[in-house]
Amino acid sequence: MVIRRMEDHDVEPVVELALANYDGVMAEHHSAEILAGFRADVTPKFFRDQMAWKQVFVAEEAGEVVATGALADFGSPGAPKHTVSQFYVRADVHGRGIGTRLLAHIGETAKRTGADRLHVPSSRNAIGFYERAGFSVDSGQPDAPLEITWMTMPLLDLAGQVRRADRP
Ligand SMILES: CC(C)(COP(=O)(O)OP(=O)(O)OC[C@H]1O[C@@H](n2cnc3c(N)ncnc32)[C@H](O)[C@@H]1OP(=O)(O)O)[C@@H](O)C(=O)NCCC(=O)NCCS
Repeated sequence: MVIRRMEDHDVEPVVELALANYDGVMAEHHSAEILAGFRADVTPKFFRDQMAWKQVFVAEEAGEVVATGALADFGSPGAPKHTVSQFYVRADVHGRGIGTRLLAHIGETAKRTGADRLHVPSSRNAIGFYERAGFSVDSGQPDAPLEITWMTMPLLDLAGQVRRADRP
């Protein structure tokens, strides 16, 4: 699997894999109203706009995009908030460790830029995945109306995650 920065030709497959997740696993956990609001953002223009100010990555297998995820500082000067967003694995390859590997790559990237902590606004269905990766719920940042759970983890123990992700 190759992890690289997202390019313009990746936009269409990324939109497709994101929408399939909204219509599948995410629809099982979120209210239709909230999901429709988020889903409406999932357009080629949205991803092109994201690429202009975030580090957006894709994971590629056999020439096909199988996952995407982004890293950006949502904080303010002197108070960084390195945050994972737009994180989706193609539905037919869930559970194969792809999300873990992409998350580890994003964490290592954040760490190289000096981050000591990573944040993520998790959808309901993904809380268990992030907990498994070492995040815990950040009760200081509730966002219950949007059905989002802010989670956070220190970037000190990424080695363990990478070792797990390297399993066959
Ligand atoms: C959540 C998601 C990113 C996980 O990616 P993935 O590639 O399927 O996850 P992995 O195969 O790397 O799983 C890693 C571990 O987390 C566990 N896990 C994965 N998804 C989980 C979930 N939803 N709940 C609980 N545990 C989960 C796996 O069982 C695995 O555990 P193990 O190491 O003990 O076997 C993927 O399911 C997805 O794209 N979901 C829809 C979009 C989404 O919710 N994105 C997050 C938005 S914030």
